[in-house]
Amino acid sequence: MADSTHPNPGPPALLCDNVVKLFRRGRGLKKKVVRALDGASLTIPQGELFGLLGPNGAGKTTLVRCIATLLIPDSGTIRLFGHDVFTDSLFCRQRIGLLTSGERTLYWKLSARDNLRFFAALYGLHGRDRDRRIDYLLELLGLREVANERLERYSSGMKQKVSLARALLHDPDILLLDEPTLGLDPQFGRFIRQFIKEELNRKQGKTILLTTHYMDEADELCDRIAFINRGKIVATRTPAEFKREIPHKEILEVRCLGQPDTTGLKHLDGIEQVQADFRDGITTLRLVMPKAEKVLSEVIELLRPQVRLLGIDVKEPTLEDVFIYMTGTSLGADTKEEIQ
Ligand SMILES: Nc1ncnc2c1ncn2[C@@H]1O[C@H](COP(=O)(O)OP(=O)(O)OP(=O)(O)O)[C@@H](O)[C@H]1O
Ligand SMILES: [Mg+2]
Repeated sequence: MADSTHPNPGPPALLCDNVVKLFRRGRGLKKKVVRALDGASLTIPQGELFGLLGPNGAGKTTLVRCIATLLIPDSGTIRLFGHDVFTDSLFCRQRIGLLTSGERTLYWKLSARDNLRFFAALYGLHGRDRDRRIDYLLELLGLREVANERLERYSSGMKQKVSLARALLHDPDILLLDEPTLGLDPQFGRFIRQFIKEELNRKQGKTILLTTHYMDEADELCDRIAFINRGKIVATRTPAEFKREIPHKEILEVRCLGQPDTTGLKHLDGIEQVQADFRDGITTLRLVMPKAEKVLSEVIELLRPQVRLLGIDVKEPTLEDVFIYMTGTSLGADTKEEIQ
């Protein structure tokens, strides 16, 4: 992790100060303003692997697009290695490698190699240097054998590898990875996560900003994490610091068949937060409180007449619990359009 002892302190790789981005939609009385970024601020030192964690609609992609100069904020400052991304956009674009999620950014009728050749030309890479770089990246990502096959025959995991190779063509100093493992099967997800941390960050020393709404991914990968909710950075800490944020608290996890009414639980003495997740006929309740055993019998008494209890456990808080504790929003929530 980069800190004051990092060999190359220099200016921060990225500084966002009070960034505001509004989207205006509709006309007349139906006119609506969505405040996608509401004064977002963060600083990432060189060499750090930094995660932006937040629910759907929190503003993660909007911030990444502003940093990558694809969107112009309404106000605020964004600096890359000390250079303003808007007045010095050429300098900044040369240093950014961007991986977007869910967008079709490759040509499926072309092979991986031809895709990379095309995008390399856009970065001004030609001839032997280009071919050497492409061979190196294909090898690095385990794509050499299939490099001449059309992308339409690739699985989504393999396409994601090509997108990563594309983002690395010009050997950027900072990578902006927007939901890099979204929709991938566990095997590819694991490969991409390991590649990001071990190869790109630890070995090649690249600064990385990655967005995710998977708390396990943020916990496993990141040196530091920023929670983003409704366009604002709520808090920035290391994963371990976040988990200490709710000290002296325990999580009582109750699994039951069916959907109980949780109103009574919220009024029990000592219970500070109640979260219910209903899936496949089973409800998992997570109750935050200082001492679980004090309310255990009351919780059972309240639930037993309503549902069949399957299991009760006392757990340590996870990043998700801290996120809910700090924001009142679950990471699985969809907050799109709520922002005004
Ligand atoms: N081009 C656009 N026009 C209008 N509104 C937009 C546009 N892009 C984003 N928004 C709105 O801005 C808010 C933030 O969206 P954004 O895509 O940045 O969230 P996100 O954190 O990336 O969410 P997700 O996890 O779903 O990718 C949402 O309310 C979204 O609907
Ligand atoms: Mg997004």
